[in-house]
Amino acid sequence: MPPEPSNGVAAPVCQVDDYFHNTPPPKTLASHQALVREFIQYHLENSPSRRIVLVTSGGTNVPLENQTVRFIDNFSAGTRGATSAEYFLQQGYAVIFLHRRFSLLPYSRHYSHSTNCFLDFMNESDDGRVVVRTEYQDEMRKVLQQYHHAKDNRLLLVLPFTTVTEYLFELRSLTVMMQPLGNRALFYLAAAVSDFFIPRDRMEEHKIQSREGHAGDQGSGAGRQLVINLDPVPKVLSTLVQSWAPRGSMIVSFKLETDPSLLVSKAEQALKRYHHDLVIGNLLMTRKWEVVFVTPDGGERWIRVPKSRRSKSISGVEELVGKAERKHDPEPVDLEGGTMMDG
Ligand code: PMT
Repeated sequence: MPPEPSNGVAAPVCQVDDYFHNTPPPKTLASHQALVREFIQYHLENSPSRRIVLVTSGGTNVPLENQTVRFIDNFSAGTRGATSAEYFLQQGYAVIFLHRRFSLLPYSRHYSHSTNCFLDFMNESDDGRVVVRTEYQDEMRKVLQQYHHAKDNRLLLVLPFTTVTEYLFELRSLTVMMQPLGNRALFYLAAAVSDFFIPRDRMEEHKIQSREGHAGDQGSGAGRQLVINLDPVPKVLSTLVQSWAPRGSMIVSFKLETDPSLLVSKAEQALKRYHHDLVIGNLLMTRKWEVVFVTPDGGERWIRVPKSRRSKSISGVEELVGKAERKHDPEPVDLEGGTMMDG
């Protein structure tokens, strides 16, 4: 595969096609497709006006061996995606949550991982029962009610991926399957996607031995160094916008940078290149409390969590939902009692 120009220009469709042609599909694809087909069908039949959003969340990984012992990972805990999914559900959307396996999930994220270990919320009562501590009852009841609402109304479909290959196959397939939704579909691409990978035909089958010292073939191992030879992952957003997604759907991508002086210009570049609706920009160090909405008309709008609430993370979904509604039609979304909750 020829390398992508260093300025990150969108890959021609043929590069994207080649990628899918030359890469074996993941084993889970067929079962996930069946779940998605059923989910979409259910909502088309039972609530045809409901919008469905595909939220992608977490980082993809790149295996160095086919029987994978080692891999290169992408940063992302899944906070943005999991928090945003909750806000979409509160706004009446049904959510397909395509996430990195074991990253944060909507609702359970409040009680998982090391910062919010669920055991810290529990106590043993005098009669030996395990109960939620009194001071957490109200908050947990609220989260539990929202979780049950989503579950009982089949509003949330959770699908995991691990590798960049799994992610890209799932993304293509789900996007195409959402075509019958037309302008009721929204794509919210918050996953952190690997830019480089080892193509299947150059990948070692077994664990790389320390004496061999190279991965992805063609590498030259100097002594016991590991030299890794990676190809660029084709940029798929352009194809997603032009061919896979339904006409009239809303497509939102994210841009992560570490240098503040690059963020807005990179977001603008992405909009010019891919012709989608919105780029939400964020900086690594401040992503939990500020984001910038960059629109094709040159708009640049910062949304910030006030300093006093900075333990909470920002999703920006309420702002976005307003935009989606103005774009599509004036029909109100059925909120079904969803309430607001901070991330
Ligand atoms: O999970 P958290 O810890 O809360 O962090 C959230 C986040 C910082 C990961 C999230 O808010 C975010 O910014 N996600 C996108 C980060 C990213 O991967 O940016 P990028 O520069 O690699 O991608 C830019 C765009 O190119 C994306 O819209 C992506 O869909 C697109 N792309 C990427 C890879 C690929 N193969 N093809 C693409 O078209």
